[in-house]
Amino acid sequence: MSDNTVSQPADAHICPHQFAFILDNFIRKLVQRPAKILGEYLQEGYMAIDVGCGPGFFSIDMAKMVGPHGKVIAADLQPKMLARVAHKAIKHGVADRLTVHQCDTDRIGIEQQADFILAFYMVHETPSPRKFFEEMQSLLKPSGKLLVVEPRMHVKQAAFDIMVSDAQASGWQAIDFPKGKGGRAVVFVLKNAA
Ligand SMILES: C[S@@+](CC[C@H](N)C(=O)[O-])C[C@H]1O[C@@H](n2cnc3c(N)ncnc32)[C@H](O)[C@@H]1O
Repeated sequence: MSDNTVSQPADAHICPHQFAFILDNFIRKLVQRPAKILGEYLQEGYMAIDVGCGPGFFSIDMAKMVGPHGKVIAADLQPKMLARVAHKAIKHGVADRLTVHQCDTDRIGIEQQADFILAFYMVHETPSPRKFFEEMQSLLKPSGKLLVVEPRMHVKQAAFDIMVSDAQASGWQAIDFPKGKGGRAVVFVLKNAA
């Protein structure tokens, strides 16, 4: 195993770092505008987490949106994805507020709490979405929101509905199913805080 591979069950499909260019290019920017997709959830000074950040298509804009007094943690399994994000953060002048964090396969492992968490096109790649949602509870402030967006092509409506049920069974409440987010989308809050 090379140092860039990650341990996953045989049936899990991780988007490899070699495909980063598919996730991070100007054509995607034309179709999915991070500021438009995330603007309503982010404010200056916010602490935000981009979990399963890949090459940081959203992380950089998130760091711009939270401003110099905010903070973004870009978290992923793959060190080469994180290296791209760190490089881009310097290039875009947001390295002061963006840190990268390497997750374990079955544990995000962040100790801080966020005002907003994004999980874009990543939940279907986790070995156990239910376990993922259980851990995510400790990562969000009581007033915070979690936006999950899943790709329509890989995640059919039935699978998405199961994912939402899994989350609701793990302490989350779905409060919105917004359109125009680039896939099947749901906004969660913590059930005890709703
Ligand atoms: C399809 S990519 C999407 C990347 C990014 N969110 C975007 O929209 O461009 C999914 C990413 O999630 C990461 N990922 C998958 N399972 C993960 C896990 N259990 N913990 C952290 N990251 C994970 C993968 O390494 C990959 O970079």
